[in-house]
Amino acid sequence: MKDGKFITMAFESSCDETSVAVLADGRQVLANVISSQIDIFRQYGGVVPEIASRHHLENINQVVDQALEESGVTWEDIDLIGVTKGPGLVGALVIGVATAKAMAFAHDIPLVGVHHILGHISANYIEYPALEPPFMALVTSGGHTNIIEVEDYNRCRVLGATRDDAVGEAYDKVARVLGLGYPGGPKMDRLAKEGNPQAIQFKRVYLEKDSYDFSFSGLKTAVLNYLNTEKQAGREVNKADVAASFQQAVMDVIVEKAVGAARNQGEKKLVLAGGVASNSRLRAMLEEACGSCGIQLYRPSPLLCTDNAAMIGCAAYYQYRELGADSLDMDAYPSLQLPEEKL
Ligand code: KG4
Ligand code: ZN
Repeated sequence: MKDGKFITMAFESSCDETSVAVLADGRQVLANVISSQIDIFRQYGGVVPEIASRHHLENINQVVDQALEESGVTWEDIDLIGVTKGPGLVGALVIGVATAKAMAFAHDIPLVGVHHILGHISANYIEYPALEPPFMALVTSGGHTNIIEVEDYNRCRVLGATRDDAVGEAYDKVARVLGLGYPGGPKMDRLAKEGNPQAIQFKRVYLEKDSYDFSFSGLKTAVLNYLNTEKQAGREVNKADVAASFQQAVMDVIVEKAVGAARNQGEKKLVLAGGVASNSRLRAMLEEACGSCGIQLYRPSPLLCTDNAAMIGCAAYYQYRELGADSLDMDAYPSLQLPEEKL
């Protein structure tokens, strides 16, 4: 405890960001240090798992020190340690989990393992101090695309998921074939602003009637086919039009399904989460769609959308309060499923 507040330290290392955060009373961020490996992976056009875990290992102690310094807390002040236990790259997860366990053991602090997606959703509790479940959540990141009914802090129901590529993954792959570099999502977002979203009519994939599932691999192939056809015909491709048309085809489906899920389940709150939640078109379209049917839209600021440890610390706080600590033989779980019942 510090100044009468419950102090949580959290670790996130599921992909290519090494992050350590310190929070007071679950929602107040005292430090959120993020060491990104983006510059390293630009040359490879994507994350190389083995290299990512090595960098986590090299960085993590310095990131811990910086988080302690920025927050002004000492080990004696810390009441809880939270860590992403999955899903993610196993070698990357292991570095965060092993460090968190070592610190918990050495300083005799309770430990909680957090599901990465619940972390993304929890970013909204930090952004909006008064937000409480229940609500509908749309999680769109490089590894996940889900529509989730969040019934309580530790209880949720997955209504829909992608059957192939995640949205961010599709963005990154299309960006690569357009020669935009890594990570492609933000670059596509910027380029699309200069293009015509109606220029190319890519097919919208809604799957079965009433399904909240997604499929984006066909759209990615359609973009590839379009580019090949244009190349063979010797026609100049307008990359901004391709980016804008691809984006519109993605967002039409996502927005309709997410808002439809909230309406059908009678939820008055829709919460955005994950890296793609910072997409400007998604934000604008959801704002309009939610506004027209009386649904309140929540979305974290861009820094809290992409991977960071503050969101994990917030999720850990609510998990610990309700369900208590995990044991020190907790492991990293690369394919961890979302907790549909109690965690
Ligand atoms: O949540 P996140 O940091 O990592 C995962 O848990 O996957 O999400 C990263 C993903 C990447 O695919 C990145 O290209 C995408 O989010 N992304 C975006 C935007 N900003 C990040 N995609 C579209 N538009 C953006 N503005
Ligand atoms: Zn993530």
